Amino acid sequence: MTAVVLDGAATRPAAASTAGPAEIAADGLVKRFGRTAVLDGVSLSVRRGERVALIGANGAGKSTLLRCLVRLVEPDEGHTLLLGEPVGRLGRRALTRLRRRVGFVFQRHNLVPRQSVLTNVVHGALGRAGLLAVHQAVAPAALRAEAVACLDRVGLAALARQRADTLSGGQSQRVAIARALMQRPEVMLADEPVASLDPAAGEEVMALFATLTRQAGVTLLFTTHTMTHAIAYADRVVGLRGGRIVLDAPAHPGLAPVLERFFE
Ligand SMILES: Nc1ncnc2c1ncn2[C@@H]1O[C@H](COP(=O)(O)OP(=O)(O)OP(=O)(O)O)[C@@H](O)[C@H]1O
Ligand SMILES: [Mg+2]
Repeated sequence: MTAVVLDGAATRPAAASTAGPAEIAADGLVKRFGRTAVLDGVSLSVRRGERVALIGANGAGKSTLLRCLVRLVEPDEGHTLLLGEPVGRLGRRALTRLRRRVGFVFQRHNLVPRQSVLTNVVHGALGRAGLLAVHQAVAPAALRAEAVACLDRVGLAALARQRADTLSGGQSQRVAIARALMQRPEVMLADEPVASLDPAAGEEVMALFATLTRQAGVTLLFTTHTMTHAIAYADRVVGLRGGRIVLDAPAHPGLAPVLERFFE
């Protein structure tokens, strides 16, 4: 296990050494539900452009941690710096502004079912373009063109006019990724982004997601139960158990047996 240090470049894992400053830095996060501390002093640092996989058993607190980072869940103790902003001290407006810079992709992708694929992707620009992005039919041509380009990047430009509720699971997840790209986020938080997909589609969409975020230079923190994805698509693997980070290692094929033992 590599020590987790909030702000010490000298002790950072090798995979992070070429990356920039910390874009996600959590220090001593505690979150209790009732008497149980789901997070019991979690400290984690993710550098700019780094891709980190967060692993752990069901109920280990992975989703809670992602939510705490942007205060969708309010932590009980600890501090978070996100894109240099002290998340815990921000007022409502500043927090909203910060969240606009963060993309989310969740297992349940929350597309607007009755709207077209293109409108759903245009919605990704709501944070920066406001109401101009409400519907693709009234959105400025530049936004529509950008949305089509995002759809093209996930291979779905041909389905732009199709209603979102007619898509397959894999197609929906690609649209969710296109929407997140449309947001032009600096940090992407992805909670089991391909969990609803069959293994082949999951592999394909995860590879696409990893490639697109890398091309865009986006810092990526994703949770996964698929260890081959953690190894293939992250620079670093972080493991959560008993409310704490007990594994933090560079992603490498040699890590596979360690990750298998992690769940024993
Ligand atoms: N709002 C809540 N109220 C009470 N308990 C909660 C709440 N949210 C999460 N929990 C509990 O916290 C624990 C951690 O949940 P979390 O969803 O973070 O786990 P996870 O690691 O994402 O699990 P999974 O792999 O199943 O997605 C679970 O025991 C869950 O029941
Ligand atoms: Mg979860």
